[in-house]
Amino acid sequence: MSIDHRNGADSAGGSGAASKPADGHVLEYQSGFGNQFATEALPGALPQGRNSPQRAAYGLYAELLSGTAFTAPRDRNLRTWLYRMRPSAMHGPFKRIDDRNWRSAPFHEAETPANRLRWSPWPMPAEPTDFIDGMTTIAGNGDVRAHSGVAAHVYAANQSMENRYFVNSDGELLIVPQLGALLVHTEMGRLRADPGEILVLPRGVRFRVELCDGSARGYVCENYGAPFRLPELGPIGSNGLANPRDFLAPVAAFESGAGRVSIVNKFLGRLWEGEQSHSPLDVVAWHGNLTPYKYDLARFMVIGTISFDHPDPSIYTVLTSGTDTPGVANCDFVIFPPRWLVAQDTFRPPWFHRNVMSELMGLVRGAYDGKAEGFVPGGISLHNCMLPHGPDAATFQKASTAELKPQLVEDTLAFMFESRHAFELTPAALTADNLQDDYDDAWKGFPGASPAGSQGS
Ligand code: FE2
Repeated sequence: MSIDHRNGADSAGGSGAASKPADGHVLEYQSGFGNQFATEALPGALPQGRNSPQRAAYGLYAELLSGTAFTAPRDRNLRTWLYRMRPSAMHGPFKRIDDRNWRSAPFHEAETPANRLRWSPWPMPAEPTDFIDGMTTIAGNGDVRAHSGVAAHVYAANQSMENRYFVNSDGELLIVPQLGALLVHTEMGRLRADPGEILVLPRGVRFRVELCDGSARGYVCENYGAPFRLPELGPIGSNGLANPRDFLAPVAAFESGAGRVSIVNKFLGRLWEGEQSHSPLDVVAWHGNLTPYKYDLARFMVIGTISFDHPDPSIYTVLTSGTDTPGVANCDFVIFPPRWLVAQDTFRPPWFHRNVMSELMGLVRGAYDGKAEGFVPGGISLHNCMLPHGPDAATFQKASTAELKPQLVEDTLAFMFESRHAFELTPAALTADNLQDDYDDAWKGFPGASPAGSQGS
């Protein structure tokens, strides 16, 4: 049997939600977080009862992709078996190319100031720019060589990746679209992510990004550390926050066309490019639990107070990348979505705080309830370890005098990459025209308190 058509089946073997990619086809997905999925784009392509038969169907090649050490505990172990038209090893040497604005930790190019910082939205490119060329690293921590820490990037693109593929050997990519939908073609199949959704691409998975709306902008967390997983729920119980069934993995779909293509490989913080004469997305069937996945943040079941005060913001954690220290995250991905505020006798916006963890925030849409102005969709704020922050003066004045009726916070979607290590900045972030020079003014003008009977000086 031979395989001689392009794109194979758009989908097969899937269940769960469906959405339309740019070309109008309906995409199918398999539902569940970290499930042991099984999918084939052609009937009989997936071996049954074994992983590596002497001769696989259609002459396919069996290949293992591991996302954790072979001996990782069973509940953390990630791997997928791929059945592909050619081994992924079939390519020439990778050659060093310009790193564009990609940077990796540890950063040595600039000193990171002990200041709270905020950026207006990043501009859209004037020249033709794809997802790779349109990426700018803002900040990061840890060490890409040690599989520890994260980097935060923004992308701004106006062109789909044509005959060019990307693979990140340094970490997984958590993509947060802010403008424009992405249709991402991966070895495991296709996924579409619109603003309001997130997409996670595991370390080592080859992909290309097609823009559905002509241009796109968004945020990326490049996680060098332990793969993202769902947080423990403790006394919340077995339901709530991000529910596992709402995570969607692709179904098998493949590209069988011939022709020169290039693969850009981010490896040890540098970009390398190799050429080959076939698409690397030639996987006809696969099974396993190491997959790209997407998640609609509107599905997040928000938990908050129904009496007074509000819980720590960890109650908004969607995904977490742990460390060897229990409860201390390499990175938490946290969102502040639409929700009801009903707390009585409570200052409802975020409190003033100094945090041992470091917080890099973005805004997908609307307004954030901690700031009256200056933090707008497409922008970033950074509050590094122990830097005092919280509501600005206008927000404090309004919230501390407001009538405490039930209030629906609508039209908002902020998020945070929160990390155990301070974010060190790149020169591109520190010299950006959109870096605001007056952010400290957000905390000007608070009147001093007048404790009764005191003689303060
Ligand atoms: Fe904070």
